[in-house]
Amino acid sequence: MKYGTFDDKNKEFIINTPYTPYPWINYLGSDDYFVLLSNTAGGYSFFKDARERRITRYRYNNVPIDNEGRHFYIKENNEVWNIGVRPTNTEVDSYVCRVGLGYTKITSLKNDIEATQLAFVPKGYQGEVHKITLENKSDKVKELSLYNYIEFCLWDAYDDMTNFQRNYSIGEVEVDNNTIYHLTEYRERRNHYAFFHVNTDIESFDTQRDNFIGMYNDTSNPIGIKNKTLSNSIAEGWQPIAATQVNVSLQPNEKKTIIYTLGYVENDKEEKWLEDGTLNKSKSHEMIKRIQTEEQVDELLNELSEYWEKMLSKYQITSNDSKLDRMVNIWNQYQTATTYNLSRSASYFESGVGRGMGFRDSNQDLLGYMHMDQIKTRERILDLASTLLYDGGAYHQYSPLTKKGNEGLGGGFNDDPNWLILSTVTYVKETGDYDILDEVIPYESNQNLTGTLLEHLDKCFTKVSDNLGPHNLPLIGRADWNDCLNLNCFSEEPGESFQTVQNKGDGLTAESIFIAGLFIYSAKPYIELLKKLGKKEEASNKQKIIDKMASSVMKHGTDPDWFLRAYDAESNKIGSIENQEGQIFIEPQGMCIMAGIGVENNFAQKALDSAKELLDSKYGMVLNYPAYKSYDYKLGEISSYIPGYKENGGIFCHNNPWVMCANTVVDRNEDAFELYKKIAPAYLEDIQDIHKTEPYVYSQMIAGKEATYSGEAKNSWLTGTSAWNFVAISQYILGIRPEFDGLLIDPKLPKELNNITLKRVYRNTEYVIHISHNEDKGIFIDGEKQETNIIAPVKEQIIIKVHLWYFPILKESF
Ligand code: BGC
Ligand code: NOJ
Repeated sequence: MKYGTFDDKNKEFIINTPYTPYPWINYLGSDDYFVLLSNTAGGYSFFKDARERRITRYRYNNVPIDNEGRHFYIKENNEVWNIGVRPTNTEVDSYVCRVGLGYTKITSLKNDIEATQLAFVPKGYQGEVHKITLENKSDKVKELSLYNYIEFCLWDAYDDMTNFQRNYSIGEVEVDNNTIYHLTEYRERRNHYAFFHVNTDIESFDTQRDNFIGMYNDTSNPIGIKNKTLSNSIAEGWQPIAATQVNVSLQPNEKKTIIYTLGYVENDKEEKWLEDGTLNKSKSHEMIKRIQTEEQVDELLNELSEYWEKMLSKYQITSNDSKLDRMVNIWNQYQTATTYNLSRSASYFESGVGRGMGFRDSNQDLLGYMHMDQIKTRERILDLASTLLYDGGAYHQYSPLTKKGNEGLGGGFNDDPNWLILSTVTYVKETGDYDILDEVIPYESNQNLTGTLLEHLDKCFTKVSDNLGPHNLPLIGRADWNDCLNLNCFSEEPGESFQTVQNKGDGLTAESIFIAGLFIYSAKPYIELLKKLGKKEEASNKQKIIDKMASSVMKHGTDPDWFLRAYDAESNKIGSIENQEGQIFIEPQGMCIMAGIGVENNFAQKALDSAKELLDSKYGMVLNYPAYKSYDYKLGEISSYIPGYKENGGIFCHNNPWVMCANTVVDRNEDAFELYKKIAPAYLEDIQDIHKTEPYVYSQMIAGKEATYSGEAKNSWLTGTSAWNFVAISQYILGIRPEFDGLLIDPKLPKELNNITLKRVYRNTEYVIHISHNEDKGIFIDGEKQETNIIAPVKEQIIIKVHLWYFPILKESF
């Protein structure tokens, strides 16, 4: 069953019902100001940090779901409806929501009024725009009232939802004609405020929630709308809101546009007030001036669309598979850019109060993002590296507002350091910017403790290599990539958070084979980099260490047919045929093979066979099999989930791409692409009702084969899945991968893909790569066969044509 379809020409997904299986959202904003907006205009906004600068309020886990947002109500006589249908649920004659790149456009028709809400965050603007268009499609004059409603959050989202005894007495606003200012705490230590502006005269307003909604009503039937005008209430404490009424008279076929802006302003401390003691509104006035006319809005929309055009243009494909093109050219890159912006902080599954920028997460996001924006990538790498601990561990998270490491959570996730090595080295491959390695940056977000980025990387390496357990494999710490494999926490306290609890015991026994794989995978190019920098001795010392690690994996980290997952705190095997449950895990099968372990002696192939046999299912590969059926305090959170969900036997879409990559390493091209298609949203179009989450983006998890509701997805949007699937398809399957000296051209295509043209912008050179099957295998430039498959960029921005003649399969298939 379908609730919508792709419109590739406009790079949109068109949703055809307000009642999708879950609210289907979009992210507006790509710099500092962000909006989550659902297909019925639910959602919320924040500046930089979803916890510390929440601009509007949102109630998670509400019933019904998704009640707060940017709702516009239309009233004609006594009938009231929403442009986005919810929350009134008044039936409309037609509805469509277009999810576009950085904008959402909802249109509905009722009583011959066609109403459109077009929402976006202009580039370089700390605010959001809602352009409302009302068109009278009848031959009668229409007298309407248009209302908006937003509820302000008192800035700190966590405090806002917990500290009511104080918060009910601090809310403040000021109304200045058609602008409502939200000023809570501005009188004291806050130097920021929000404003809500309508570009036309308003009939009335409310800023006190109960006046508009009513104490015992809700957003589906606000009491204020029942009256001729709103009550012009001025909030003092309680819940400040911005609700306005605009009366609109429409002649037959007449169309009118009204523009609403919600903005955020920071003033310097000295400039908060004017001499007469009133609010300094100059910045808001400037912002308001920029968004007064339709022409201005159109211009800003053009800028936005040019921005996205440019972002996506760095990797484009034309192939014989339109679903592949759709994923690669539009949605996968778009989602990855969103994960760059927000890490895992705020989605319809992440409340925005618990998680800032994840160290592991954000480093991985960069792998799929860096080709789009190298300036932002550079900044992010340095921000992340600045939170590295002096001993080479890492703050597991940092705050996007202060860029400081999260003390409460601390470090001790022993895979973290490897991800910084990987993102940095990959960045150098992408850009050729070796200078980044000399940047002097803090450790522990502490300006008194500094070192170059290259020194930071050395600490990362040593942190892992110096912390090995009894089998000479890396100690796992609080957890590795799998946050739920908590081998040192031994939690028996109800409610104790697996994620924040510190290790009990000495942590010197439990080891991770996954970290060993990741260590080698990230260290290989790092060693190459050291060689390029002339550090031969260091490179060779480190090479010895990784060689030793690889043999430890083969010796102690394998079962006869696959890679083990870990050793627990008593040195028992995890992910072994000897276990009753959790006999095999996906992560090491992917990562160890990506690192090249077991490839030469064919063990890798065997491990992939096992993964296919035991982990694979209709909807992708599950994380572990069989799932754990009961809680085991020696394993931690993994065994706390219902079998088949999340890290306990769910299909974790994040590490399926590792298996895709691993398959390409051993030339199993068909398997790689088959798995790609099982996970990629564009191929799941027809099972939208089973899948439930947005059909245009990846979700973190799809319920696995042991789950009752197998195929049902959760945690959409903010997941490392996006970056890794982009890496798998663009760099491993399509095989176009940056190396230090040029672009590697090494497609590992399945039979069904043929006659592909790829455009890749790399170091200012646009590569146009035609791939087709031909017996005369090789890479040709201007008809000349190349000696190498690494093609160096040319200095000028010119187009090189690389013809790749590639014939990996049996002739008779063509
Ligand atoms: C989730 C993980 C997540 C972790 C940290 C756990 O509850 O299952 O997927 O990585 O929390 O937020
Ligand atoms: C989601 C977290 O964001 C990520 O850091 C972790 O690796 C995975 N879950 C697996 O637990």
